[in-house]
Amino acid sequence: MKILVVGSGGREHAVIKALKKNPAAEVIYALPGNGGIAADAVCVPVGAKDIAGITAFAKENGIDYAVVAPDDPLVLGAVDALEEVGVPCFGPRKNAAIIEGSKAFAKELMKKYGIPTARYETFDSAEKAESYIDSLPEGNIVVKADGLALGKGVIIAESREEAKTAVREMMLDGKFGASGRRVVIEEFLTGPEVSVLSFTDGESVVPMISSMDHKRAHDGDEGLNTGGMGVVAPNPYYTPDIAAECMERIFLPTVRAMKTEGRTFRGCLYFGLMLTPDGPKVIEYNCRFGDPETQAVLPLLESDLLDIMLACTEGRLRDADVRFSDKCSCCVVKASRGYPEKYDTGYEITVDGKPDAEIYIAGAKLEDGRLLTSGGRVLGVTAVADTLAEAVQKAYREAAKAHFGNEFFRRDIGARALAANKR
Ligand code: AMP
Ligand code: GLY
Repeated sequence: MKILVVGSGGREHAVIKALKKNPAAEVIYALPGNGGIAADAVCVPVGAKDIAGITAFAKENGIDYAVVAPDDPLVLGAVDALEEVGVPCFGPRKNAAIIEGSKAFAKELMKKYGIPTARYETFDSAEKAESYIDSLPEGNIVVKADGLALGKGVIIAESREEAKTAVREMMLDGKFGASGRRVVIEEFLTGPEVSVLSFTDGESVVPMISSMDHKRAHDGDEGLNTGGMGVVAPNPYYTPDIAAECMERIFLPTVRAMKTEGRTFRGCLYFGLMLTPDGPKVIEYNCRFGDPETQAVLPLLESDLLDIMLACTEGRLRDADVRFSDKCSCCVVKASRGYPEKYDTGYEITVDGKPDAEIYIAGAKLEDGRLLTSGGRVLGVTAVADTLAEAVQKAYREAAKAHFGNEFFRRDIGARALAANKR
């Protein structure tokens, strides 16, 4: 099979490495990939949002199967466009990707189908949003831009005044462009967060192993929100009882709701959950694999990723072999100092020896045979071990073998999980 993977980050590198394990994967193209992915796939300089370029490449090169990994092309309809030229895909069509593309849609869906989530209101007018905020009790208020905003469109305001400022910045000053013209204002929830990625063919849903992302830039969950600075899997807060409850009250109802709405979702549906004192609630849906969650979850997958993906596409997930190891993993992300704001790049990446871990390259380019940093998140190092404590230790030990100028990383990935559970 000739396979095409759309995207260019650590998540795509992890997906490509897993796909490569299947001998049927004769060649894998990454559009656009990156300098590190080039070691595992043929990188083609077509941007992930260039839908016309992607379909043209697929047609010209006789692609048999495509995996569309990032949110932007999914929300733009890359899957629909590829299917139109006869290429089956892993990933939802545009009408289902809206579950991530519009927070207002996602909230409405949950309300309509009784799926537990934070109470909320949606606003198209800043004035109405502000008077709604005035009616709320003083304290934390969550303001979310409706559309995609690189994971930065969520403001946890600590007062009504701060919430109103966030509304004005989004709706009047255009801080997130069109994505912020409509806002969702919701109740502040508390509790441990869990990421659950799942495979679905629109009927069945099979959760992958749970994980815990570390979204803030600095140790102790300080600093700005980022795409994610590290992950451990499984998430010790996510007990079998909670998993059963989530399946019954959240996962299946969501997949059925999407089908009922005529928006059958096939691909990876990501549930961002908060385990509140009133039970698990949905914080967000993503229409794709999480990054860096994928870098911690796929190394624990024991069965074949390509087979599972094809089963999702072809509506036969029920019979697919989806098996995860009972080991633990830890992924430590190394980033360019200054991320998620301004940072310098162009530093050489070197690796001592052959680390006993997976190294997924997220932001690098090849120049004269040298691998140079080119992004905020540069690489993720994932170690697998029998216990979480060992996985964390090993991930840090191995991550110390990959260096580049201007690097920084969190030193406390897994610390909270370890405190919760001595496994
Ligand atoms: P999102 O982009 O929707 O995942 O939101 C980013 C982060 O904001 C989440 O991972 C949570 O930590 C936090 N968050 C979002 N919604 C809420 C909420 N209703 N209550 C508390 N924290 C929230
Ligand atoms: N790590 C969170 C995300 O992929 O959205």
